[in-house]
This record gives sequence, structure tokens and C-alpha cells, in this order.
Amino acid sequence: MRRKLVAGNWKMNLDLASGRSLATALAKDVGSTTAVEVMVCPPFPYLSAIHEILSNSSVRLGAQNCYFEAPGAFTGEIAATMLTDVGCDAVILGHSERRHILGETDEIIRKKITTALAAGLDVVLCVGELKEERLENQTEIVLKRQMSGALDGQDVALLLKHLVVAYEPVWAIGTGLTATPDQAESVHIYLRNWLSMYYNPDLANKVRILYGGSVKPDNARELLGQPNVDGALVGGASLKFEQFQPIVQAARDLTAT
Ligand code: PGA
Repeated sequence: MRRKLVAGNWKMNLDLASGRSLATALAKDVGSTTAVEVMVCPPFPYLSAIHEILSNSSVRLGAQNCYFEAPGAFTGEIAATMLTDVGCDAVILGHSERRHILGETDEIIRKKITTALAAGLDVVLCVGELKEERLENQTEIVLKRQMSGALDGQDVALLLKHLVVAYEPVWAIGTGLTATPDQAESVHIYLRNWLSMYYNPDLANKVRILYGGSVKPDNARELLGQPNVDGALVGGASLKFEQFQPIVQAARDLTAT
């Protein structure tokens, strides 16, 4: 049984004061419960402060990116070991905003994953097609390229322990458009089959596949209720406790049934 994971990707949003109040409210709501995993991924400068707030709860702390080199002369970059040092146990890699706005290639993402896994971080690998690609029936081809581009040559034992995949159709991110539960489920099945064939059925069964793209309180239950949707990566709706908490609650309710 895969435990559901609801992760909030704050992106480049919130200030320290609002981040602190959001984390405080979440830590209180989640407490030490673990039936559903809850994670927040704040901007780098706030990680230490948020870590302190979360440390008495089971809410996990993730980062939104890291660099693939070991610490050294790389002005402006952040090493994976620096993330564990400030209390992160996970990192989002390959987010579509980094692929399409910051120009990250599959090769860069692959190297970042290797470094993050070596640092002991869980990796939330984001994959997803553009709107034109979906319209041209290219979704599976794009996902296959992104998955093999990112995962080729990685240590299978580390992937088994630390990999989470997030399917985030680019056309659904921040647009208010959401994949239907059926669309999400069928892509998740494709990704799980791909993991099974490229690696093995055990890894495919264990790896959690999250859905991301305009997840909101009113669509969370249906999306999270799909058998192969193991959680959500939430952007906009993770910035307000009143919106994020009901998504976490939907995962809890589904877990309890
Ligand atoms: P959204 O973002 O929920 O605002 O669509 C999701 C994401 O980009 O992770």
C-alpha cells in the first residue's frame, strides 16, 4: 500500500512572515500523524526558519531545486548536501517551470537526480507534456523521453527508496485547467508500466506517482481517489492554509476508508 503524499510547492511566493504562519498552522493540523505524508517546499532563504517550525511535527521539508555539483565555486547555486544540512529530506527536480523558463534539459535533470540521491534526499521528479504535445497525441512519447532522460543510469536501489514521480501536464499548471481524473489515471498507469518495464514491477509498485496541475479543494478528492494517483503536488492552493488543508484532509479521508 503506497502512503499518499501531499506536497506544497510554494514556488517563488510568500514572504517569511506568511511562510511562518502557514507552516505553523500546518504543523498544528498534521501534528505527529503519518497516515498521509505532508510536505512543504518553500523558497531557499526560508528553509531554515520553516524547518524550525516543522521540527515538532511530521510535516516534511523539501526544496524546489538543487545543483548537480558538490560544494565549490558555483556562484548562486545550492548543493544537495546544503539542503540536508538545513533539514530538507526531499527536493523537487525537473519542474516544468525549470525546464521551460530556466532551460533545464533532461541531461541536467539526470545529473541533479544522481547528486540528490547520493545526498540521501527523496527526489520528486516532475514530468509532463505541453498542450500542443497532448493535442498531437505526443503525451506518452514526451513522458517516455523525460523519464528515461532523467532516470537512465541511476542507482536502482536508491530509486526504490527515494523516487517519487509527479505527473504535471504543463497545460494544467497555474491555469485552472485540471486533467480529468480519468486522464490523470491513464497517464499514471502509463508511467507505472514504464517503471515496471524499464526497471521492475517491485519498483513500479512502490514508487508514488503524484498528480500536479491546478489541484484545489474541490477536485482533490476525485483525483486522489484514483487507484494510481498517490498524492498531489500543489502549487497555488498550497499558499493558503484554508486551501491546502482540505486537500490534505481529502487524502486522509481516502486513506481511512
Ligand atoms: P498549480 O501548480 O497547483 O498552481 O497548478 C502545480 C505545480 O506547478 O507544482
